[in-house]
Amino acid sequence: MYICICKGVTDTAIREAVCKGADRMRDLKVCLGVSEQCGVCAAHAQEVLETALMQKAAPQQF
Ligand code: FES
Repeated sequence: MYICICKGVTDTAIREAVCKGADRMRDLKVCLGVSEQCGVCAAHAQEVLETALMQKAAPQQF
């Protein structure tokens, strides 16, 4: 599913970025361009980021 329409970033791309070490919105902005233009995606991207970080920390619970 697309999270950032402006940059064509999907939830999968965000999860992959988290696997590679991204752990803040700033990281997603730098590596994927999330929230770089209109900013509408910021809240949803943050949600996906937090979920991915939780899954990374405790993968057996999901
Ligand atoms: S939807 Fe992400 S910057 Fe516009």
